[in-house]
Amino acid sequence: MPRQLFVTTALPYANGHFHVGHIMEYIQADIWVRFQRMQGHRVHFVGADDAHGAPIMIAAEKAGKTPQQFVADIAAGRKPYLDGFHIAFDHWSSTDSAENHSLAQEIYVALREAGLISVRPVEQFFDPEKSMFLPDRFIKGECPKCGAKDQYGDSCEVCGAVYSPIELKNPYSALSGATPVRKTSDHYFFKLSDPRCAEFLEAWTQDGKLQSEVGNKIREWFTKDENGEGGLSDWDISRDAPYFGIEIPDAPGKYFYVWLDAPIGYLASLKSYFAHGGPKAKYGETRSFDEFMADPAVEQVHFIGKDITYFHTLFWPAMLKFSGRKLPNQVNVHGFMTINNGDKMSKSRGTGLDPLKYLGLGMNPEWLRYYIAAKLNSKVEDVDFNPEDFVARVNSDLVGKYVNIASRCSNFIHKYFEGNLAQLGSGDESKLQEMIPLQAVISREAVIAEALDKREFGKALRDIMAAADEINQYFDTAKPWELAKDSAQHAANSALHEVLSACMEGFKYLTLFLSPILPDVTRRAFDFLGFDQPLTWAERATPVTTIRKYEHLMTRVDPKMLEALFEPPAPAVVEAPKPGGEEIAPTITIDDFAKVDLRIAKIVNAEHVEGSDKLLRLTLDVGEGRMRNVFSGIKSAYKPEDLVGKLTVMVANLAPRKMKFGISEGMVLAGSHADEKANPGIYVLEPFPGAQPGMRVR
Ligand code: MSP
Ligand code: ZN
Repeated sequence: MPRQLFVTTALPYANGHFHVGHIMEYIQADIWVRFQRMQGHRVHFVGADDAHGAPIMIAAEKAGKTPQQFVADIAAGRKPYLDGFHIAFDHWSSTDSAENHSLAQEIYVALREAGLISVRPVEQFFDPEKSMFLPDRFIKGECPKCGAKDQYGDSCEVCGAVYSPIELKNPYSALSGATPVRKTSDHYFFKLSDPRCAEFLEAWTQDGKLQSEVGNKIREWFTKDENGEGGLSDWDISRDAPYFGIEIPDAPGKYFYVWLDAPIGYLASLKSYFAHGGPKAKYGETRSFDEFMADPAVEQVHFIGKDITYFHTLFWPAMLKFSGRKLPNQVNVHGFMTINNGDKMSKSRGTGLDPLKYLGLGMNPEWLRYYIAAKLNSKVEDVDFNPEDFVARVNSDLVGKYVNIASRCSNFIHKYFEGNLAQLGSGDESKLQEMIPLQAVISREAVIAEALDKREFGKALRDIMAAADEINQYFDTAKPWELAKDSAQHAANSALHEVLSACMEGFKYLTLFLSPILPDVTRRAFDFLGFDQPLTWAERATPVTTIRKYEHLMTRVDPKMLEALFEPPAPAVVEAPKPGGEEIAPTITIDDFAKVDLRIAKIVNAEHVEGSDKLLRLTLDVGEGRMRNVFSGIKSAYKPEDLVGKLTVMVANLAPRKMKFGISEGMVLAGSHADEKANPGIYVLEPFPGAQPGMRVR
């Protein structure tokens, strides 16, 4: 019976394009999916954009778009990455889909009916200008430990302290600059502390299905310390409007926290794939999504990075379990992709490995697939991209060992045998088994298949390359170029013919083993071997009879390409920055400036202006033996009593202006940003100590 697999990768946030970390995750999953398909199993491989949450809502606002438009624009840019690296998702959806809205609400209602939802008030910082609760990342202030300014609400980047946003000194909203106020609202919780959850999760996470280091980490999360702290606590799953997300049923103004509906997006994407008729077209699947998911034989497999383990091994299985749904069969956690071990070198060489730049330079996507596969295992280890190592592995292993076999045999076969291969061992099975190239591959096929199934891709490639080495050595030892000197060897089924044919048979197996990792070059290699379609695992013994004309299968990496890849982007022709939000005014002469008579003025009195919410009335002394009356639009920034007695600078020869509240005889100087709404603040000029009223400013 073929396995039925429902496979996902983590749903990327729709606030940016893919980076090489995403591509690495997709390549890992794609290799595994292709391997399972080659084994004859049925795989539904889906992804989606993770559309919801406060950061995306805020980014959309900044970009002047609706959140829907914002995430749609990101989604529209996904294809060149996926196609470019041969990542073959069957379907790609969004967590903002209709399917996800209804599934999230259904699952929530089921959890509520199971008695696992509670409501309690939570006090949080609220931005009074934006009228919204602030996520921790959007509250800034001074670190309560070291006093460093402009630190985030959750931790200090200067001293490393971790705290709650309420502990920040002089907090302000990173959105509006306003001082946040504390405000209480009701929040909805998933009761992870319920004994039923704890009991279920302790069993489910410790029965050996997870990677051992993942299981161990989770055990730490379960454990309470001597103060009874730690252990599983209830999970806050609600956010107050305004929020880009899914409304909580029977709770007006409340939305699901993005991490509640994000993994449900896996199911929603599969459901949408069924709605589009995908499984029917691919495998003749006639069941509905619900029927399919109710089949206990269907295996649910997730690929994720180590940073989101908590969500996928605790919250997610608990949500599924207590809403009566299928549980994940595998949660495959991988480490992080780093560039040159994240050292300073790589930073000076650029900002990482930009996947589209890689493709744009004409670099072969399968070089990267090969390199990543060679470094992957089933553990949660980081994978480092090292340029020298990359060049060495691709050129000496992939091209120098695998591709080499085809290129060195094909000429002989065409020249002497018209492309036809010998009947190996002349039909004698036992003799066939003794042929070194065949032994090299057949003796390894079981361990290679097992390694690919267990995600030990590095090990699989070591075995594949060891087989390639043996085949190349066999070729070197047999010396076909010597044999060919004897014209008797040009007859069909001669020793020369057998040597070359055995190498081609071995090459066919190598091609099969490599096909999940290198779908494109192996498709062309199968074509060269005379097969119109890639062989499946079950068809692997089908002999090669006639080879087609050899076309170059793969070129070597030119190390210059890596230099170009990591070269920092040429400084873009950027618009000159506008200081304070506006360009410097056109040049004037000193004579022009001299027309403006600026004087030190003493603020003798300051008071509110009845009926005006902008102006203060200032009484100024510039040493003329009389007072000047000046209206100044600084009420939002200063209290009258803070100004009285101070010195400032005024334009003393400005024509008097009649205003609604009286005549203004001059103007006080103050600094402000051109866009006062976005950058509020007015700063009145004050001279250094010693200046006297009436002095000219020049
Ligand atoms: N939206 C969440 C996942 C929701 S899943 C229901 C998220 N998105 S993400 O865009 O930040 O990350 C998507 C995946 O990429 C995660 O599995 C994450 O671990 C992985 N990676 C992000 N940076 C990575 C590397 N540098 N290297 C490898 N994988 C990395 O988390
Ligand atoms: Zn600090």
